[in-house]
Amino acid sequence: MDNKSEVKVLETKNISKSFGPVQALDKVNFDLNKGEIHGLLGENGAGKSTLMNVLYGLYKEDEGDIYLRGEKVDFNSPIDSIKNGIGMIHQSSTLVPEFTALENLILGTEGNKMSLELKGAEKKIKNLQEEFGLKFPLGTKVKDLPAGVKKKVEIIRAIYRGANILILDEPTTSLVEKEFEQLLKSLKKMVNNGVTIVFITHKIKEVLQACDRASVLTGGVMQGTVDTTKATKEDLVKLMFQNQEINITESAIPIIDVPEVEKTEKPVLSLNNLSAKSNEKDGTDLKSVSFDIYGGEILGIAGISGNGQKELAEVIIDPNNITDGEINLLGEKVNGLTTNQIFDRNVFYIPEDRKKEAILGRGDITNNVLLGHQREDRFQSNGIIKWKKVRDDTKDVIKEYGVKTPDEKQQIGKLSGGNIQRVVIGRALLNDLDLLVTHSPTAGLDMASVEFVFKRLVELRSKGTAVLYINEDLDELMEVSDRIGVIHEGKLIEIFNQDQYDKYEIGSKMIGG
Ligand SMILES: Nc1ncnc2c1ncn2[C@@H]1O[C@H](COP(=O)(O)OP(=O)(O)OP(=O)(O)O)[C@@H](O)[C@H]1O
Ligand SMILES: [Mg+2]
Repeated sequence: MDNKSEVKVLETKNISKSFGPVQALDKVNFDLNKGEIHGLLGENGAGKSTLMNVLYGLYKEDEGDIYLRGEKVDFNSPIDSIKNGIGMIHQSSTLVPEFTALENLILGTEGNKMSLELKGAEKKIKNLQEEFGLKFPLGTKVKDLPAGVKKKVEIIRAIYRGANILILDEPTTSLVEKEFEQLLKSLKKMVNNGVTIVFITHKIKEVLQACDRASVLTGGVMQGTVDTTKATKEDLVKLMFQNQEINITESAIPIIDVPEVEKTEKPVLSLNNLSAKSNEKDGTDLKSVSFDIYGGEILGIAGISGNGQKELAEVIIDPNNITDGEINLLGEKVNGLTTNQIFDRNVFYIPEDRKKEAILGRGDITNNVLLGHQREDRFQSNGIIKWKKVRDDTKDVIKEYGVKTPDEKQQIGKLSGGNIQRVVIGRALLNDLDLLVTHSPTAGLDMASVEFVFKRLVELRSKGTAVLYINEDLDELMEVSDRIGVIHEGKLIEIFNQDQYDKYEIGSKMIGG
């Protein structure tokens, strides 16, 4: 391709960076060709975000050099890198939720004081949206936008600020395949306009589909860069997991052995024509949803994010806001019970947003393991917490779930995503469960951690637990679910049995087809 010359637009030489005792980057060499989409792969905690944050001027390298178009640069903050045409979309949104998309776009750029200039900005932004196929309503508050749309806002913001090198840190975590394909189209248009892109993801399939080259970072060490037109998914797995044996499907999902299990005679959970109001102002209300889940069964829920998945999970663990219909747990109507009362019935919940909803980021691992269990007799008597018991159980969780941490006193928010999720799952599975409700438990996890989560879900199923497994990733759902229900605009459109799994068919239901 002619616009992909061998000019290195960006290059790092021997970049090292430590956080206290953790060496996040160890003499990393990395380079970008002009006009390429360059994938960056590596396990949780490999140093991907750190490397990009160094390029973006957010972190200062301990040693090494950065060259921009052949010239050595020294960025002291993102202000410097933005001026030099580097834009970064971080792993978690940096938009101001209370502001509209438009306000977020012009925030921090010059000349936004007068309404006339605002009008000019709006016009320019609309042109960019048109040009790159990234449409979204400019007047909507960001907090009311689904995850996929927020990414679009952030990308347009970077381009609007003049980025010609765009760093995307795991942009597809909560996107379904269709949304990924749309995003890819937009990225290709940008590339044709001279933009160079770094694309961080855990999904090998996306790398092979989207990228020209890909680099693999593990344990802070650059393992190599491959030409993705020549490399196979096995080549990439080998670079990522030199010593580990991981079997993957056609779609590059870890293969799990799912044994035959006898289902319970009666359902553990039944929803009968359940309608419920969302807890959020612009959330999606549930409309007459009905299904049963039996013990020993994983019911997957597929859908594009923001179609009532969160509401579905929440109404089960907090059965309020019900406007019609009923929820039965082990044959008993539970409408109106509190979350505590639901948890007392051997139910646990793994929410979607790990950092905001599942953990107390500033608390240590011990505090976090106790969350949701604090009223159980084994952890308290007369309201006094038995800390020794909690600590002992926490140590067991760390061991059993392979949490990489110095000890149980570690602040949980400082762990990598995969390690936080291991704690969250260990906590959920402290007791034998009748029902586990879990929403995107593998989001942002590396392949080894995805395999780990799958194995735990399948083990639960073997023990006779009913699992409600909500996920945007259809490949993952198809790998471990006994049945898959499709949710769209708050309605459960259809439930597919395993022998009816067809990606195209399920996918078209997800978009309302
Ligand atoms: N601000 C920080 N303070 C302390 N340690 C940090 C900080 N940022 C990163 N680390 C540590 O540096 C290492 C690399 O982290 P980094 O976030 O770059 O990994 P990553 O490859 O982006 O992982 P993930 O796929 O989970 O996003 C990890 O061990 C992490 O705990
Ligand atoms: Mg990261």
